[in-house]
Amino acid sequence: MNNILKLFSVFSFFITLQTQIFFSSSESMSISKSSNASKVLVLPLKTQKLSSSATNKLPFTHNVTLTVSMAVGTPTQNVTMVLDTGSELSWLQCNTTRINQPVFYPNRSSSYTPIPCSSTTCTTRTQDFSIPASCDSKNLCHAILSYADASSSEGNLAMDKFSISGSNFSDTVFGCMDSGFSSNLDEDSKTTGLMGMNRGSLSFVSQMGFKKFSYCISASDFSGILLFGESNFTWLLPLNYTPLIQISVPLPYFDRVAYTVQLEGIKVSEKILQLPKSIFEPDHTGAGQTMVDSGTQFTFLLGPAYTALKNEFINQTGRVLRVLEDPDFVFQGAFDLCFLVPSHVTRLPDLPPVSLVFRGAEIKVSGERLLYRVPGEVRGNDSVHCFTFGNSDLLAIEAYIIGHHHQQNIWMEFDLQNSRIGVAQVQCDVAGQRFGIFH
Ligand SMILES: *[C@@H]1O[C@H](CO)[C@@H](O)[C@H](O)[C@H]1NC(C)=O
Ligand SMILES: *[C@@H]1O[C@H](CO)[C@@H](O)[C@H](O)[C@H]1NC(C)=O
Ligand SMILES: *[C@@H]1O[C@H](CO)[C@@H](O)[C@H](O)[C@H]1NC(C)=O
Ligand SMILES: *[C@@H]1O[C@H](CO)[C@@H](O)[C@H](O)[C@H]1NC(C)=O
Ligand SMILES: *[C@@H]1O[C@H](CO)[C@@H](O)[C@H](O)[C@H]1NC(C)=O
Ligand SMILES: *[C@@H]1O[C@H](CO)[C@@H](O)[C@H](O)[C@H]1NC(C)=O
Ligand SMILES: *[C@@H]1O[C@H](CO)[C@@H](O)[C@H](O)[C@H]1NC(C)=O
Ligand SMILES: *[C@@H]1O[C@H](CO)[C@@H](O)[C@H](O)[C@H]1NC(C)=O
Ligand SMILES: *[C@@H]1O[C@H](CO)[C@@H](O)[C@H](O)[C@H]1NC(C)=O
Repeated sequence: MNNILKLFSVFSFFITLQTQIFFSSSESMSISKSSNASKVLVLPLKTQKLSSSATNKLPFTHNVTLTVSMAVGTPTQNVTMVLDTGSELSWLQCNTTRINQPVFYPNRSSSYTPIPCSSTTCTTRTQDFSIPASCDSKNLCHAILSYADASSSEGNLAMDKFSISGSNFSDTVFGCMDSGFSSNLDEDSKTTGLMGMNRGSLSFVSQMGFKKFSYCISASDFSGILLFGESNFTWLLPLNYTPLIQISVPLPYFDRVAYTVQLEGIKVSEKILQLPKSIFEPDHTGAGQTMVDSGTQFTFLLGPAYTALKNEFINQTGRVLRVLEDPDFVFQGAFDLCFLVPSHVTRLPDLPPVSLVFRGAEIKVSGERLLYRVPGEVRGNDSVHCFTFGNSDLLAIEAYIIGHHHQQNIWMEFDLQNSRIGVAQVQCDVAGQRFGIFH
């Protein structure tokens, strides 16, 4: 699999976009492909908690998922899709014989159109798929999507109308899937499919034609907002921008349609880790890119950077935290720095913030977000809290991945037109109130 990064996307993070849509102006609700980018769509995000009983092949869980609810087809059918900034093709489960899972019924939709494998959509716009699209026995365009946790999804490319609260996006290309293997039945029972939001030509945001989208995840309850369109509100400015990195030649470990940024350094408090810049740059195989992926829960760093951060964090917290000395305990296979905190303690001691320094922008992780209390893990009277930065090497991940846990209370703007990501510290629940979303 040349593209481990895409795989992450399916894990973790889904926001429930409720069906209501709020417009930031009193413009009409009509959005069509001919009048794209000038309008703004704002949607409330709500997370849905999944039970942790899922049998993940890779040892990380995705308790919190972002989902989008919308209507598809003619007449419309309601669907709930996992919002995934790390993958391209949106898909719906179309196997109507599946039990305990919401499905889309293609033959109940008069606007449903399967895509033949001779079409240019099939031959050229699938170029970034990790497994090339093929022809099935009916000469329809067949796609296989596979993910790192060994889940996969397989079916035909098709087009239909996607409606978000009365705004119609006709002839939207998606995968109408009829087989596959899932690692999370709990998730399957709540969602109809997945909405791909990466930079590939078939991703949902590319097809909608919006030049920007943003999200903001509240720290308190994992609600948030998702916004399509311009987000240059005066109350939000200034955003600090970091350019998206693109490479001209395809490399085996480099995901060209991911949101890749340039990490330049890591700080603990104000102390910058002594690391050569080169370790943050992709090598000749493409390994070592830094992705902003809302589909991953925590953050992963390649071994050398992780080790330096771990040592410095231990050093600076030596007086207030007790390290769990148990080489057999590695949370989710990648988090081997954990601490013992008396179970009755409700407030962690003051901790040094960790800053991820990008070209032009910085993400500062502080307080509670630095540690994650591992559910059910106790040692005597202590609970186990693990550092929320993990070691990519332990999972054979060839990249730095900035997960959604570290994107809370940050306005994250994905500016596709200018090929950059903007960030600004903001209280996402307050931002939501500005749109009338949180009550
Ligand atoms: C969207 O499509 C529905 C029919 O499915 C139609 O009733 C509605 O008027 C359309 N909305 C717009 C804005 O075109
Ligand atoms: C689809 O969702 C809308 C809005 O929530 C609801 O009014 C409608 O009844 C739903 N339709 C079906 C078939 O569930
Ligand atoms: C949809 O198509 C399948 C087979 O292609 C058929 O078995 C089923 O009856 C059809 N359903 C409807 C509602 O037409
Ligand atoms: C649809 O799902 C059922 C049950 O999981 C499975 O037996 C069947 O093979 C699937 N259909 C196709 C076309 O893959
Ligand atoms: C709308 O988006 C489509 C797809 O990206 C693009 O081809 C079209 O030019 C856009 N229209 C406008 C008015 O921006
Ligand atoms: C936001 O962008 C729009 C379109 O580019 C522009 O007309 C408007 O003046 C900008 N507003 C602010 C506050 O910068
Ligand atoms: C932290 O590192 C400094 C040198 O960088 C060293 O002098 C100090 O002893 C270390 N403290 C701990 C608690 O390891
Ligand atoms: C997942 O969520 C459930 C319910 O909110 C919680 O009990 C469980 O501990 C969580 N698991 C992890 C690994 O966060
Ligand atoms: C745990 O706390 C209780 C009550 O404070 C105490 O009696 C007991 O000895 C403690 N156990 C350990 C293993 O420290």
